[in-house]
Amino acid sequence: MAAALRTSLCRTLSDRRTSRPVVQQQRGVVRAQQLENQGKVAQQNGAAAVVEQTEERIPSASVHVIQPISRWPEGIPPAMGGHYMPSGEAAPLSQSRGPGENIHPLMFTYPAGGRDVAVNVYDSDFAAASGLADYVAAASAEAIAAHGAFTVALSGGSLVKALAGLVGRQDVDFSKWWVLFVDERNVPLGSTDSNYRAAHEELLRKVPVPASQILAIKEGLPVAHAATHYAGQLLELSSSVLPRNAEGLPVIDCVLLGVGPDGHVASLFPNTKETAATEGWVLPVSNSPKPPSERITLTMPLLNAAKNVAVVALGKGKAEVVQRALEVQSLPGALPVQLVQPAAGQLTWVLDQGSAGALRVADWELGSKKFPRSENPPKPAA
Ligand code: 6PG
Repeated sequence: MAAALRTSLCRTLSDRRTSRPVVQQQRGVVRAQQLENQGKVAQQNGAAAVVEQTEERIPSASVHVIQPISRWPEGIPPAMGGHYMPSGEAAPLSQSRGPGENIHPLMFTYPAGGRDVAVNVYDSDFAAASGLADYVAAASAEAIAAHGAFTVALSGGSLVKALAGLVGRQDVDFSKWWVLFVDERNVPLGSTDSNYRAAHEELLRKVPVPASQILAIKEGLPVAHAATHYAGQLLELSSSVLPRNAEGLPVIDCVLLGVGPDGHVASLFPNTKETAATEGWVLPVSNSPKPPSERITLTMPLLNAAKNVAVVALGKGKAEVVQRALEVQSLPGALPVQLVQPAAGQLTWVLDQGSAGALRVADWELGSKKFPRSENPPKPAA
């Protein structure tokens, strides 16, 4: 049975000076099982399962959380096709016997389970950067109190500029930081394409993180070797710095993700084998659709093992992907950011008014957000 999704909507309109929310609207709870609870799955002729219609039909509000196919003993959840047709009839499922020839199972599955998602909307990019600094500072203090170190994984792109709010924070013990990279381009560290260089210019040269605690890609290697070498650097960190979970995966204290217009996070692009990978810590990417083509990337299982994961998307240019990611469930793999579901951690979206401009937040608060959408999402304001 599909797990319920609780989307805690904490819409924070922030004071520009402090980033402290000046208005905190009510929290909305969106449940995944509305439709499931309104219908029941029946077996017909011992072969096909259908969803029987009951009096009231409310589309499922499931957005993020569905179980892998192997865990659907009672039929396909509404969010994956167990829907009603315009005629009012429940959509029939396939009657075919067996998988047919040359059919391969979809290589992506959404993680089972799912936890609360906090969506913080700030007044401006400035307020968002300040709120992000508070978020990172809190994660840092908690980690240092718990295990004497703070591991933070940075993305490239526009994310590093949003970290400017950390510069000059006296309440952050940067000497205990270990800086990793969510993904990195396989270029020299001095290249203008280097995520390391961007992070150095925007943050790392301005805060007292010891150079030996910044884990950069090794230059000049074939990309596959660079990925192996980076995984080796993670392996060499002691478990007090980088604890492991029950599956043996490193638990990074704080992962800061940007998101591309195509929904990619890290260098995990839509419908690629790297995005589908269920094993490994660091993978090479040799044909990235976003240049440069050679990169290394942390894997989705590693991102989802983290304690805190923030998806940071600021500005009008991100409005469309934010709306799709938060309000329209795609086939797994088509929007990699939707696969980001920390198993034991907290997922937080950091938005500003521009990037949140196409969200129908009022619908969320009323608990009436329709899913899947049957209409085109509104275009972000020009
Ligand atoms: C990279 C980045 C990448 C980035 C997204 C979003 O190396 O390209 O790490 O994953 O975070 O592409 O980038 P923007 O915020 O610049 O759009």
